[in-house]
Amino acid sequence: MKKLHFLAVITVLTLFVQCTSRPADTTEPSAAVIDTTALKAAYEATVNEKQVHLYILRNASGVEAAITNYGGRVVALVVPDKNGVMTDITLGYDSLNHYRNRSETYFGALIGRYGNRIAKAKFSLNGKTYQLSANNGVNSLHGGPMGFHNQVWDAVQKDGHTLELSYTSKDGEEGYPGNLTVKVIYTLTDANELKIDYEATTDQPTVVNLTNHAYFNLNGQGDTTITDHMLTINASKYSAVDSTLIPAGDPVTVEGTPFDFRTAKQIGKEINADHVQIKNGLGYDHNFVLDKKQANGLEKAASVYSTVTGILMDVYTTEPAIQFYSGNFLDGKLIGKKQKAYGHRSAFCLETQHYPDAPNQLSFPSTTLEPGKKYQTTTIYQFGVQK
Ligand code: BGC
Repeated sequence: MKKLHFLAVITVLTLFVQCTSRPADTTEPSAAVIDTTALKAAYEATVNEKQVHLYILRNASGVEAAITNYGGRVVALVVPDKNGVMTDITLGYDSLNHYRNRSETYFGALIGRYGNRIAKAKFSLNGKTYQLSANNGVNSLHGGPMGFHNQVWDAVQKDGHTLELSYTSKDGEEGYPGNLTVKVIYTLTDANELKIDYEATTDQPTVVNLTNHAYFNLNGQGDTTITDHMLTINASKYSAVDSTLIPAGDPVTVEGTPFDFRTAKQIGKEINADHVQIKNGLGYDHNFVLDKKQANGLEKAASVYSTVTGILMDVYTTEPAIQFYSGNFLDGKLIGKKQKAYGHRSAFCLETQHYPDAPNQLSFPSTTLEPGKKYQTTTIYQFGVQK
């Protein structure tokens, strides 16, 4: 009798374990690397009366992107290395709370209303001066402390490949004029591209410069350095900056400087060169002006690969420029995913953009958006392996 009772308990327990270990949402693709169920749970919250979630995109070859509608942040991007090992190549945190507690970090985020710096946190448009939040010394950086990176976006996951995010930035938010309606579409294609389409319209003249601020390490996130990566940037000119990283006038030639990446060069080769611009940037933290065939053409801007994993990333954009930032301000104090300390130069960013401080430097391509006009840009990060 006792034996029968024992067998019944075992049977019930076995059934229970089988049921609970089944994925909660069986319509979802089974995750190769990302533990979808656990990770999604770490992002479920209500922030500013809006629901935050994590969305997983996955393509035919198993490339995965995990994106939250909190700041539109890419929190993981998993791609195959030269041996087929799936590798997470973006820095970030393990849960939503970490992002909220470190609101000054931009890991993986959508940046707006204005990517990079605006000098002295102010600009004039049509004779009126607008005062922005200064969050980088006297300058405004990446849209201010409550820029788009710290806002909850409305999200619709169209299918396993596409996530559509929308956000309305109110007139006066962080000091900017006009109600700006923004849409960003992330698409993970079967050609191993993470494609980002940006759109915006306004009801008053304003300035707009949207980008994504993924921090990459193609050796795998948490690896100590990116200075061994080989980088090409299709740019004959870059913006020299002052000591507060504001462009000091019109772009200058890269010829004969550490800024010449027109053919593949190790990021670390001249990163500590005795050059005033390297000193001002504490390494690379500069706007590179792309050599474009067509002003708004979707053209290759940069290419970077790891000599360790072979992971290759090509960047295509319709934008005129790209900010190459070599992670100079990372100092090991931020502890990211899998308890990795993010040390000095343990990531790089390639942020496609219009030039920093364009609202104040009128010889730069304009960033003004007028009512009735549509802001529209596309950037693609495509992944492969270097043979
Ligand atoms: C800026 C850096 C800044 C970094 C913050 C880059 O776009 O140019 O100066 O420290 O973003 O993540």
